[in-house]
Amino acid sequence: MSKRALRIGMIGYQFMGKAHSHAFRDLDFFFDLPVTPVLQAIAGRNEGAVRQAAEQYGFASYDTDWRRLIERDDIDVIDIVTPNVAHAEMAIAAAQAGKHVICEKPLAMTVEEAVRMREAVEKSGVRALLCHNYRYAPAVQLAKRLIDDGRLGRIYHVRAQYLQDWIMDPNFPLVWRLRKEVTGSGALGDIGAHILDLARFLVGEVRDLAATMETFIKERPLGEMSGGLEARADRSQTGNVDVDDAVAFLTHFESGALGVFEATRFAAGNRNGNRFEINGERGSLRWDLENMNLLHVYLEDDEPGLQGFRTINCTEPVHPFADKYWPAGHIIGYEHTFMNLFATFFKSLVDGSPCKPDFEDGVRNQCILDTVERSAATKQWETVEYR
Ligand SMILES: NC(=O)c1ccc[n+]([C@@H]2O[C@H](COP(=O)([O-])OP(=O)(O)OC[C@H]3O[C@@H](n4cnc5c(N)ncnc54)[C@H](O)[C@@H]3O)[C@@H](O)[C@H]2O)c1
Repeated sequence: MSKRALRIGMIGYQFMGKAHSHAFRDLDFFFDLPVTPVLQAIAGRNEGAVRQAAEQYGFASYDTDWRRLIERDDIDVIDIVTPNVAHAEMAIAAAQAGKHVICEKPLAMTVEEAVRMREAVEKSGVRALLCHNYRYAPAVQLAKRLIDDGRLGRIYHVRAQYLQDWIMDPNFPLVWRLRKEVTGSGALGDIGAHILDLARFLVGEVRDLAATMETFIKERPLGEMSGGLEARADRSQTGNVDVDDAVAFLTHFESGALGVFEATRFAAGNRNGNRFEINGERGSLRWDLENMNLLHVYLEDDEPGLQGFRTINCTEPVHPFADKYWPAGHIIGYEHTFMNLFATFFKSLVDGSPCKPDFEDGVRNQCILDTVERSAATKQWETVEYR
């Protein structure tokens, strides 16, 4: 029996456009969902490029105006994979048109924008998903299960880092991710938002924090992203970098745990080092995206003499999502985090089950990002004011 089609309209078509399209295409292959995602239309400003993206990713049609896409009555879900500056306007318009919304992170440029997005979704009654996909790595889901089951006891420490190095060359151009008016903040919102989401998912809310931010290279040639994290430079003109290259902050969690966070794009040799270690009274957990199938687990009540971190390859059928893919030991990758996320969201659209992270998570994340910037400016501990 054929399943109901869930018709997707995507806005933007580069790095995340490719990641999301791939996930949508493969979902039916691995998951038994009550709906089938259909790549209905894709929008972008450059006709040649968006036509090519439609052909490559498999969209049935394309448009050069995202507003026309949102107005179409043969689209159920709008997927926003554009730079951060466009998220609010597009998400609010999509919600007002009665479309479910998928939005890339960080949710918005400011707390005000994020709150308006949450309100638009609540008012129209549609569902919204925020793409913090790393929550959906099976090893991270197992970490959550162990913490929730009390296997670590009370949590004392959260140590989270997101370390990259792709803008270290001073000639790497001033792409949108380095321009405040398009991105909001630098390493903070781009990758710091991810580790904050992981920490909130695993340990709970941040109460207050003390932060510092640094911009190491203050002037760069102009240029633009050309796919993935690559860029094209125009060496004849330069501009000023007005966002952070790196950020570090200490936090208290509402639970009483202490957090240490670091996000930087200047950690040479770290291509995509999204890592955390969590220490509790009865054990510890460690995870690193670059070896994302593995969860390192230390349990205090292991037999003396045999204590130590054990390495769990989270590909056994008992591990979250692992039964959807391959036999044990046959590892999965980056793209599967998106598939797990979207499968959960699409199922929730049909059966009404909860699906996080949503725009409420986005608002909370944005409130923390905002507090980090405030603390870096005042050089004081600042309390997070959730809206
Ligand atoms: N979840 C993750 O792991 C992850 C990873 C990378 C990026 N992101 C997020 O995804 C979003 C997109 O990032 P990316 O890396 O794909 O960027 P990108 O530069 O590779 O692609 C951006 C796309 O948006 C299009 N675009 C820009 N402004 C537009 C407008 N006004 N109207 C229509 N289209 C427009 C561009 O033409 C391009 O196709 C950002 O919010 C970013 O923070 C998330």
